[in-house]
Amino acid sequence: MESELAGWLSIVFRFVHVLAAIMWIGNSLLFTWMELNLLPPKKNGDDPKENEDLLGYLDMLHGGGVFHLQKKVLRPESIPVPLHWFMWQSYTTWISGVLLLVSVYYTHGGSALLDASKSTLTGSSAIALSVGGLIFGWLVYDLIWRSKLKERRAIAIPLSLALILTAAWLFNQCFNGRAVFLQIGAMMATLMTANVFIHIIQNQKKFMVALKAGLPHDLKYGKQAKLRSMHNHYMTFPVLFLMLSGHFPQLTSAAHSVPILAVLIVSLMAIKFWMNSRYQFKHWLKALFATFIAAVGLIALLLNLPGQSAPGLSSAAAEGSKLFLNQGCAACHQTGSTLLAPQLAGIFDSLQTLADGSQIKADEAYLRESISLSQAKIVKGYPAAMPAYTHLSAEQLDQLIAYLKTL
Ligand code: HEC
Repeated sequence: MESELAGWLSIVFRFVHVLAAIMWIGNSLLFTWMELNLLPPKKNGDDPKENEDLLGYLDMLHGGGVFHLQKKVLRPESIPVPLHWFMWQSYTTWISGVLLLVSVYYTHGGSALLDASKSTLTGSSAIALSVGGLIFGWLVYDLIWRSKLKERRAIAIPLSLALILTAAWLFNQCFNGRAVFLQIGAMMATLMTANVFIHIIQNQKKFMVALKAGLPHDLKYGKQAKLRSMHNHYMTFPVLFLMLSGHFPQLTSAAHSVPILAVLIVSLMAIKFWMNSRYQFKHWLKALFATFIAAVGLIALLLNLPGQSAPGLSSAAAEGSKLFLNQGCAACHQTGSTLLAPQLAGIFDSLQTLADGSQIKADEAYLRESISLSQAKIVKGYPAAMPAYTHLSAEQLDQLIAYLKTL
């Protein structure tokens, strides 16, 4: 009952998380798009005060009409009511994300984070490391972007990226691939929400307080909020990819998963940058495609580089190891974790207990049936969640079995 409830709640948190994230990231992308597409202000009639306040304008066709949008400086005497603020999409995304992190990764004593073949760390230390990463990541990032380095972006941006990748490398020493990608995604997403909570909203509050006290609209506050807003904007593509990476075991379980993660983060940020440069840089579209093709090619190359475990495998087993990744087996059968599916290390010729209590030797016939007709015999303690791989050829099944024998 308890585990069924936990499972159901994690579905609820997941859906709330996806919805809130769509609303938040949709806003972030739309607001940046509007900002970049603002036209220089057109003088409006004869009112000099109103003209002075205009920062830009934009017309958008939607829903059967034209939205005429103006961006302007606020005057203490004319603060519009209602004035909409945007923060709850971000907070809801983060809160539901934390609940999801706890229900998927921090329960079961933290075992879903670990890879027993990499380290002997205990589950509770893994949870502490993961939480520490979220907090420490924010402190370091915030320190860099509060310091004088803020003015020297040529240093601050590469430094911030290098720190994210160092964190990925460190977590990869003890976490399984899926958890590494998710941890980095959660760390970046935490920076995004903390940017909203601590910088963006606070700066907006400061200038609203000043306005209400009759002081002029100080654009300094807006500028500070905008820098963090732009950081959030550039993190959206990588964070989306990392949050979906549980579906991409071929990448998360690859021998070179950390370099792959590096290419993903940098190229997705670069792609957003080229999209945003369209009015300043004539060749933005060529640059975008070049980045895309280079990233796709580089990751294909990294996937084909031999990893540490490849030497010594027979050719059938080596093919089987590729199938194991490509067919998505590794998404459930993670090295060192028994959370979603049984551990396959040492399975060949071992004794398996089935759901009906009977025992069976895991010989080749059993393994073949477990893969191609996975529902025929269910292992004790697991749901019948494994898809039937009836599309695999006899040769592919032999290759998979050859690989399972080496584990
Ligand atoms: C959606 C998750 C999922 C995927 C994907 C998946 N499995 Fe499974 N697998 C399970 C679960 C859950 C069990 C235990 C329940 C059962 O026996 O069906 C299992 C059981 C097995 C068993 C029997 C293990 C034992 O202890 O007796 C083998 C062998 C196996 N899987 C191999 C594979 C291979 C090879 C692939 C890829 C071609 C694969 N699985 C893909 C979830 C998955």
